[in-house]
Amino acid sequence: MSSLEIKPGIYWVGAVDWNLRYFHGYLTPRGTSYNAYLVVDDKITLVDTVKDYLFEEMLNRIKEVVDPSQIDYLVVNHVEMDHSGGLPEMKQHAPGAEIITSSKGEKGLKRYYHNSHNWKYTIVDSGEELSTGKYTLKFVKTPMVHWPDSMVTFIPEAKLLLPNDAFGQHIATYQRFDDEVGWDILHEEAAKYYANIVLPYGKQVSKALETLGGLDIDMIAPSHGIIWRSYLKELMEVYQQWASHQTKNQALIVYDTMWGSTKKIALSLKEGLEAAGVPVVIRFLQTSHISEIMTDVLTSKTVLIGSPTLNNGMLPTVSAFLTYLKGLRPQNRLGLAFGSYGWGGQGAKEVAAAMETFGWEMPLDYVNIPYLPDREELVQVRETGQKLGEAVKAALK
Ligand code: FEO
Repeated sequence: MSSLEIKPGIYWVGAVDWNLRYFHGYLTPRGTSYNAYLVVDDKITLVDTVKDYLFEEMLNRIKEVVDPSQIDYLVVNHVEMDHSGGLPEMKQHAPGAEIITSSKGEKGLKRYYHNSHNWKYTIVDSGEELSTGKYTLKFVKTPMVHWPDSMVTFIPEAKLLLPNDAFGQHIATYQRFDDEVGWDILHEEAAKYYANIVLPYGKQVSKALETLGGLDIDMIAPSHGIIWRSYLKELMEVYQQWASHQTKNQALIVYDTMWGSTKKIALSLKEGLEAAGVPVVIRFLQTSHISEIMTDVLTSKTVLIGSPTLNNGMLPTVSAFLTYLKGLRPQNRLGLAFGSYGWGGQGAKEVAAAMETFGWEMPLDYVNIPYLPDREELVQVRETGQKLGEAVKAALK
């Protein structure tokens, strides 16, 4: 797969990480890519780089288009090392190139690359522009989408947005454009990416969408996955929904179990929710990874979390999920904790206490049943599920 001209004189020169399966806690069954873009104009600019171990792949693609030593500007939209890892080596191939980044970008680069202190930096702020000849690079800061240093580069003459992490998806493919892959797969991957990476920053995403909404864009080329050119409208719609924590009539039940009692409770809650007309997704923590479950959290109005009691507390799998969930901060949900126990019963209680800290509405008391629930108790649990389902429907009205 060679470099690809995506707009006149603008080339994709990134690298594809076909076999990456784990991205700091996030499972990436389809791999990923790190996208770098080369703008060949009177001045030559490379926007972002790739992970260090794929530097040669990017360099070879650049060489298909220009002599790397001719690069004038190296734009760093974001310092995280999946995008800046190739920068020190790139600087050796283009020693005269100036680094264009935000003030926080400069600080980050100097912390990551201790030999970068004597590089030539030009610090840009929101709205600042740099002419490369026929093209203009316009920079807009997008703090916390997804790090404090994050910014996007917009090229108005090409109607092209280079937003770095925003609008990305973890997918490795020899195709480069959305219409070559299809909306269904990309929607799924964009949702998983949003849920696991961008979810805590809804307010900042809304602000960025507002700013970017005023720009005339017909192509969005993020730093991971494919380039959007045909599904921009669909993409903006789902980003608006996710950024405003909009959910649908759907319940998510997440649980682990020791001897099957917590599972029985989960299934009875499911029956009750369904009886109230709420479709249910059910995830077992021994077989579903927490990063996959986050995609269900993204769209579910209510989340129910269950654990038995082990060693006077919840199961470690449930604790790990709650820690992950707390960090990703989904809002506007209804919650319910449940569990079973032999003695003590702290598991479900701890889950309920953790969920209380999320700021979710918890309309019902947690369910906690000793040993094995009997038939009558399961009927009561089913009623609890139905009551929660009714609360979900009322909240969505
Ligand atoms: Fe793809 Fe925040 O790095």
